[in-house]
Amino acid sequence: MQRAKITIVGAGNVGATCAHWAAAKELGDIVLVDIIEGMPQGKALDLHEAAPVEGFDVQLTGANDYAATSGSDVVIITSGIPRKPGMSRDQLLETNVKIVADVTAKVARNSPDAVLIVVSNPLDAMVYTAHVVSRFPTQRVVGQAGVLDTARFRAFIADEVGCSVEDVQAMLLGGHGDDMVPLPRYTTVSGIPITQLIPPGKLDEIVTRTRNGGAEIVNLLKTGSAYYAPAAATVAMAESILRDKRRILPCAAYCEKEYDVGGYFVGVPCVLGRNGVEKVIEVELDAREKEMFAASVKHVKELCTVAKKFLPK
Ligand code: NAI
Ligand code: 2OP
Repeated sequence: MQRAKITIVGAGNVGATCAHWAAAKELGDIVLVDIIEGMPQGKALDLHEAAPVEGFDVQLTGANDYAATSGSDVVIITSGIPRKPGMSRDQLLETNVKIVADVTAKVARNSPDAVLIVVSNPLDAMVYTAHVVSRFPTQRVVGQAGVLDTARFRAFIADEVGCSVEDVQAMLLGGHGDDMVPLPRYTTVSGIPITQLIPPGKLDEIVTRTRNGGAEIVNLLKTGSAYYAPAAATVAMAESILRDKRRILPCAAYCEKEYDVGGYFVGVPCVLGRNGVEKVIEVELDAREKEMFAASVKHVKELCTVAKKFLPK
């Protein structure tokens, strides 16, 4: 059977860690691309040399151009600058729109049938950018944020309850910003509503910590942002797509009528399968959740309006 092909653009912290998780899972042959000469080649070779120890059989290639990427099934876009302490994700916008637009054009030419998973920040505006530039059907353009944000939420809940992280299921809506909307009402531990296990005040603290989860790591690292959990989250999405697992994951997906978004990419529960976003799932929201979701979507729309100014004409 022919192995799937995965291109990862940006071989920095998130990109290289995605390559590591994807190789360990034998998801497919991997091409790492970066503008820094020698760096993606060196990381690909290093991972190849880890293969006999870890026992994974996939090809690993590093490149500074896109010839080696042609015919990829999934392309993960992580190129761009990360934030430093005190910076918001939104402050990355001008630089990263230009980078993401440039790489998307090259990726789309070489892999016209791929599903694009965008990771670069500010996430929701970068997914929009990748869609406008690639002109791919909306189903084949998706952003990673919600899997990471819910993973943080799940980890903190497991710590509090004193249970396995595997037993915590959580859902979240909205953009990948401090106004993301974790949904305690849709969060359970082995089917038990979280509201029966954690008192309201403590749950509010966990929601706040989740919203600030990215900044908490930036403040500790001081030189960049998180990458282990972001890469694990991205590879979970790639796995669901490549193996057609049809997992229901929170992803930045295109919503027109769904949740009355009106044609933007925002975080919603999706079925992820071989065609990308197979379906957006609409869950019932109460008045307070609707209000928070609307505020988050408004922010995403504002970011996209600014992103438009920097897009190539
Ligand atoms: P990093 O600085 O370690 O790596 C970024 C890489 O992109 C660098 O190696 C750089 O040389 C490369 N690059 C820049 N311009 C390029 C171009 N035109 N073509 C190819 N490669 C290019 O940064 P890190 O930590 O890997 O983060 C990458 C991006 O992902 C950032 O924008 C960060 O904010 C975002 N991020 C998003 C998350 C999410 O949940 N959506 C989570 C974590 C990071
Ligand atoms: C995070 O949430 C930087 O967006 C990234 O860690």
